[in-house]
Amino acid sequence: MAMVSMRQLLDEAAAGGYGVGAFNVNNMEQIQAIMEAARETSSPVIIQASRGARSYTNDRFLYHLMLAAVELYPEIPVALHQDHGNSPETCFSAIDQGFTSVMMDGSLLADHKTPSDFDYNVRVTREVVERAHAVGVTVEGELGTLGGIEDGVGSGEIHLTDPDQAVEFVEATGIDALAVAIGTSHGAYKFTRKPDGAVLAMNLIQEIHEKLPTTHLVMHGSSSVPKDLVDLINQYGGEIRQTWGVPVDEIQLGIRHGVRKINVDTDSRLAITGAIRKAMSEDPGEFDPRSYLKPARAAMQSVIAERMTQFGQAGHAGDYEPRSLADMRDFYAGATA
Ligand code: G3H
Ligand code: 13P
Ligand code: ZN
Repeated sequence: MAMVSMRQLLDEAAAGGYGVGAFNVNNMEQIQAIMEAARETSSPVIIQASRGARSYTNDRFLYHLMLAAVELYPEIPVALHQDHGNSPETCFSAIDQGFTSVMMDGSLLADHKTPSDFDYNVRVTREVVERAHAVGVTVEGELGTLGGIEDGVGSGEIHLTDPDQAVEFVEATGIDALAVAIGTSHGAYKFTRKPDGAVLAMNLIQEIHEKLPTTHLVMHGSSSVPKDLVDLINQYGGEIRQTWGVPVDEIQLGIRHGVRKINVDTDSRLAITGAIRKAMSEDPGEFDPRSYLKPARAAMQSVIAERMTQFGQAGHAGDYEPRSLADMRDFYAGATA
């Protein structure tokens, strides 16, 4: 099986009423953890790389690791997605590298810090849609901005998505999936107390879905920041402050109202870090990297498999025959003819 179109994965998820986790990767162990979790739960999956991940791995290493994943797990439909493309050029280079999906995040300017205006967002996103759809590649756009600022990504300001503007944006750009800002942020420090309706605007998702029933909605910043993972890190010398993530039941509510792609990175990072701290602390004389990377990989697999089950994608890997990108190109050409 080749890498598949994210659009097809999301269309199938919409038909089946479930969500698909999009998990960030930066190395071989993370890709292995996700693929093993997908096999364990029989899940289709989205693997995504940020700009930082692409420069850390070097695109060719990343792409060839993904080819190995596809070869070794032929029963798993897997899409490779550019997370938070900051400019059309970033998206075009991802397409050239073999990604089957790209996010043009025009909610911020190319510095990926300054909030942009609506016209800029429409212009750059439309430019990416035209080029991507011509080769069968899926496009995710974003309207509104998330909070949090990590590794220079994000403005740190939250601007919730306006439902009427979302309709205008989708019509003007032709995107396949829309990332909505509902009060989440990237990273571990999302909320200082368990989030409720006052901080997490789940009602916006319902409203946007009612206005745009065929657009796949995307929730960024969707790590749940499990307390046991934070506690494990702190037990072995870490210093993570008390914090709350997005409760899984809120994500499940979103899935009932059109959320099809759920972005998770922080939970994997926490799982890996806790396992490495524990292994190193319990056996300080050990210096074979496999002695801590193996438990780290297993810990990430465990949290990802749990999310796959909670999002509902488990059991759906074999539901459909993946379409080629050439086929998707014809699909888009037919849709705009
Ligand atoms: O969007 C944020 C993701 O967690 C990726 O983070 O830019 O540090 O790779 P990163
Ligand atoms: P988390 O930091 O909540 O895992 O969000 C990841 C994300 O949105 C990647 O685009
Ligand atoms: Zn994100």
